Amino acid sequence: MERIRTLLRLISELTSTSARSKVAGDLARHCGADDLVIFVLDPVVDVFIPAFGFPRTLPDAIEWQRFVSETSRRGQHEATLPYPVSGQEHRSVGFSSRPDSVLVFVGGAPDPELTACVLDILPTLRVTFQAEQSVLSANATTSLARNATQQLRAQALSLDQARRSAHEEVIERHKAEEALSRKALELERSNKDLQHFSATVSHDLQEPLRMVSSYLALIERRYAQKLDDKAREYIGHATSGAHRMSQLIRSLLDYAQVGTDDRSFVMVPLETVVIEAMDNLSQRISETGAHIHFDDLPSVHGDHVLLVQLFQNLVSNGIKFMRPGVVPEVRVTAVDDGGHWKIAVSDNGIGISVADRERIFGVFQRLHTRDAYEGCGIGLATCKRIIERHGGEVWVESAVGSGSTFFFTLAKSPA
Ligand SMILES: Nc1ncnc2c1ncn2[C@@H]1O[C@H](COP(=O)(O)OP(=O)(O)OP(=O)(O)O)[C@@H](O)[C@H]1O
Ligand SMILES: [Mg+2]
Repeated sequence: MERIRTLLRLISELTSTSARSKVAGDLARHCGADDLVIFVLDPVVDVFIPAFGFPRTLPDAIEWQRFVSETSRRGQHEATLPYPVSGQEHRSVGFSSRPDSVLVFVGGAPDPELTACVLDILPTLRVTFQAEQSVLSANATTSLARNATQQLRAQALSLDQARRSAHEEVIERHKAEEALSRKALELERSNKDLQHFSATVSHDLQEPLRMVSSYLALIERRYAQKLDDKAREYIGHATSGAHRMSQLIRSLLDYAQVGTDDRSFVMVPLETVVIEAMDNLSQRISETGAHIHFDDLPSVHGDHVLLVQLFQNLVSNGIKFMRPGVVPEVRVTAVDDGGHWKIAVSDNGIGISVADRERIFGVFQRLHTRDAYEGCGIGLATCKRIIERHGGEVWVESAVGSGSTFFFTLAKSPA
């Protein structure tokens, strides 16, 4: 009788959630077993799970699930199974009076009379445990829902943010494209203006200039006897001024025409380009005794006429800016530089100071007086324009007194 009274006290303590696992142990030992777990069928997920507070067997342990289901089907069932609390295998006996709850004694040998008593109260315990589980499930569902809502809200916010920055990016890109096409239009217009201007200037200026030169020549011829030395000297100055002006106009026209549309870009062998440039400079070459070296030059993608102009300007500078008493040596070489050819035109002339390396590529930029070296200061500006027209870049390496090397890049093949 005393055993039953203790049993009932332990069972009533089992209904309270606090210290349930300790009470379960006491109850098990009171019945002659090592431990006790009550499984109830979860109505939501339709699997047996240990009631809240009992030692937890692995909820997804297939062997335990099979054991508990088998017990609920047969009413009583026995097996040796791993028990998570001790980590060892134990003989377990399961009892069930209904298909929705299972009483499991782990280890030992449970007393049949006491077991029957617990089994009688099992339906009542099951109601308590399932009610607890419903509350827990409801709480879990609420918290899951809250988490999901928070996550959704955060995702919605970041989506909105991403959408907004994508929108801003599109607007920025539109603006940049508009600015670019405006710039391209402006550039095209200014190129056209320049071409128109240069064509008009060359035609309109060359004409009166020719007239000035021919009348000067006429005066010199017809009045040769009547002119004194001073007058002849003045006429000489006027004639060379007219000649210089004519050259200047031609150079400006060359500079402007680099940008004209009627350019044909094809594969051009650089050797023929250099030979043609040397041909055009043959008089200067023979006057100075200059040596021009080149070998193994590649073909590049470009405009033949512009390339001849480019090499002619560079080689002519190499010869012109010679050191007194030093025979000019100009060398043209090319090295493979990945996507393009790097060409070098070097000389043994007077050199250029670091401070002047940039400015010499500007229009009318000269470092010397015309008395020292003749020229208009347009040659290198035209070279830069030609190289940029070909998608390349140009720079110079030099030191005063020890020659200069002009480098530039040209495309190996059409882009
Ligand atoms: N190879 C070089 N060695 C030393 N100085 C140079 C060399 N090439 C150019 N320069 C300097 O840069 C200036 C500009 O060169 P650029 O070819 O534009 O003009 P230019 O030769 O004086 O006249 P143009 O070429 O129009 O007849 C030159 O006046 C000269 O001072
Ligand atoms: Mg020049």
